[in-house]
Amino acid sequence: MPSVIITGGATGIGAATVRKFASEGYSVAVLDINSESGAALAAESHRGAVQFFLTDVRDRASIETSVDQAMQQFGTPSSLFANAGIQRLASLFSLKDEDVDNIIDVNLKGTLYTVAAVAALMREARTGSIILMCSDQTFVGKEGSIVYGATKGAVAQMTKSLSVELSPLGIRINAVCPATVKTPLADKVLAEIAEKHFDGDVNAAWRAEAEGIPLGRVAEPEEIAEVVFFLSQPAASFMTGALIPVDGGFTAQ
Ligand SMILES: NC(=O)c1ccc[n+]([C@@H]2O[C@H](COP(=O)([O-])OP(=O)(O)OC[C@H]3O[C@@H](n4cnc5c(N)ncnc54)[C@H](O)[C@@H]3O)[C@@H](O)[C@H]2O)c1
Repeated sequence: MPSVIITGGATGIGAATVRKFASEGYSVAVLDINSESGAALAAESHRGAVQFFLTDVRDRASIETSVDQAMQQFGTPSSLFANAGIQRLASLFSLKDEDVDNIIDVNLKGTLYTVAAVAALMREARTGSIILMCSDQTFVGKEGSIVYGATKGAVAQMTKSLSVELSPLGIRINAVCPATVKTPLADKVLAEIAEKHFDGDVNAAWRAEAEGIPLGRVAEPEEIAEVVFFLSQPAASFMTGALIPVDGGFTAQ
């Protein structure tokens, strides 16, 4: 049975991707800091096995321990989705040092160290597909999102550099770049936008978000999961180093 490692898989896009891979018969290792949601997801009935490994991607040793445990449980993963990420809105003049460090540690360094741990296994197998989580903010700026945007730009560049380094090892690496997706992360961001621009009316903030997207709506997590799954498959065998917008046309404008 093929296996996949998914970071940030306890909720949101990660959880939808866990369900997608499991429905296709994969064994899925969910690496996340949220043990309550991670354990609940693992306890659902799935076609493939789903196991939760408590992991803080800010801690390289924690990543390596979980990847090692996942390897012992399920063997060398054929795919990795490095998806864990956080967002904290702040203007340039209200940035908190702690938030700056946390966003960089989770989104950028967490992604890098996850890839390093998993690619070391794939290198032995001389095959594998890695998918990184970028954002529409890989390409465009958004209010209050300086550090988050910087990490997503950096992960995009990392995708390209890594594709050059990993191609001779038989490992492909691509990134998905979604616009707004209905998840707990986006709920929090939209609540803050609602406070600032819509007199606290969260529904109005979501409506405006949808109106900014050519397809006229935000994404469901499952719509991102489908693209991640495709990128992991032999059907995508000539794709590496690509940044794939999954954004309803948002960055095409
Ligand atoms: N929702 C959107 O609109 C949107 C758009 C573009 C990109 N993204 C990206 O998608 C990814 C998933 O976010 P989401 O929207 O599904 O939100 P989410 O908050 O539901 O998912 C993020 C997951 O990462 C986990 N996580 C956070 N810190 C962690 C840590 N230190 N160690 C391990 N796990 C950690 C969380 O527990 C959670 O399960 C993020 O990288 C985010 O930047 C989201």
